[in-house]
Amino acid sequence: MVNPPKVPLLDLKPQYQALKPELDAALARVVESQYFILGPEVACFEAGVAAYCGVHHGIGVSSGTDALIVAMMAIGIQPGDEVITTPYTFFGTVGSIVRLGAKPVLVDIEPQSFNIDVSKIEAAITPKTRVIAPVHLFGQMADMGSLMKLAKAHNLIVIEDAAQAVGAQQNGQPACSFGELGCLSFFPTKNLGGFGDGGMVVTPHEAHAHSVRQLRNHGMEPKYIHAQVGGNFRLDALQAAILNIKLPHLNTWHEQRRKNADLYLEAFSAAGLTRSLEDLENGNLRAGILLPTEMPGNYHIYNQFVIYTEQREDLMAYMQTHDVGCEIYYPLALHQQECFKNLGHQAGDFPHAERAAAMSLALPIYPDLTPEMIARVVEVIAAFFQSHAA
Ligand SMILES: Cc1ncc(COP(=O)(O)O)c(C=O)c1O
Repeated sequence: MVNPPKVPLLDLKPQYQALKPELDAALARVVESQYFILGPEVACFEAGVAAYCGVHHGIGVSSGTDALIVAMMAIGIQPGDEVITTPYTFFGTVGSIVRLGAKPVLVDIEPQSFNIDVSKIEAAITPKTRVIAPVHLFGQMADMGSLMKLAKAHNLIVIEDAAQAVGAQQNGQPACSFGELGCLSFFPTKNLGGFGDGGMVVTPHEAHAHSVRQLRNHGMEPKYIHAQVGGNFRLDALQAAILNIKLPHLNTWHEQRRKNADLYLEAFSAAGLTRSLEDLENGNLRAGILLPTEMPGNYHIYNQFVIYTEQREDLMAYMQTHDVGCEIYYPLALHQQECFKNLGHQAGDFPHAERAAAMSLALPIYPDLTPEMIARVVEVIAAFFQSHAA
């Protein structure tokens, strides 16, 4: 009997193997040149990503977190300023706001997209609000049409946290081309991932670009003359060289992820396991799951494929026993984190974020998954529900 395939949550080795000659040559080129800090590889990558996002300027930085920090520094975020964002995101979104002494003002998510509920933002705006920072979580954009209208009406700056969404689109318009500034991450697990940390700020505005460019290098311009206090937020030439090789493949990888998502949808519904948003709302997901939804007008790039399940801990344990990877993004909403207790929130303040944190589970979705591996994931989940039928 043939053993069923093991399915890791993510395996980056096939992608490396496919591009190995080009990647190794690019790395060797940088090593030969001994030009490791900024330089032509970084400039080329910045131009490539800016064009990809449909904006004029890209400034390579050391990580997605540093992209957020430096974007907020560039617009002069000060202690006491308020930045509206979501409690259901990676720590770095809210951590960056707090590190600048500003106050994160949290607004609950929509259950189906996991993204900030734009209809709830207006009530959170105060005279201290400077920024709205939507997060395009898991590879799908927040409702940017309504959000931009609101921001304009209240004269607020929009910083898109597109760490998980490079190449996502809404009504044909790319992520990071709506707001004043967009922040990207090239952490290895992202759709466009380096061989270490990396990030970028993109912006259509010359003045913001100039400021970010200065700030990522200690506010220095020209050499050893400092107009403002920045930091070392530079992108390595080695990372840029790798990412320059990968960028032309990004759209193909998005399409492979989307195909994998379609295969899951077909297989889970053929297995009778798909439940609706109503079932979620009614606490009635037993013996089934709620699958991710591509919201109208969106091009979802599926950085993660995240389901809701009422039996998450048992399902996770079962999948692990059967060599199928999965992960929780994220086990706590950010107002539930110890270090943000001083924001003064209570359990129940953001019910949709709290429910997502309690019930979400990411399944393998990376481009090199085979249809057999996807069938295996569905088979194992179906077997779990059979063996746990009431
Ligand atoms: C939504 C979001 N924001 C910010 C970040 C921070 O990016 P990095 O890990 O490159 O610092 C991440 C990365 O995990 C993220 O997913």
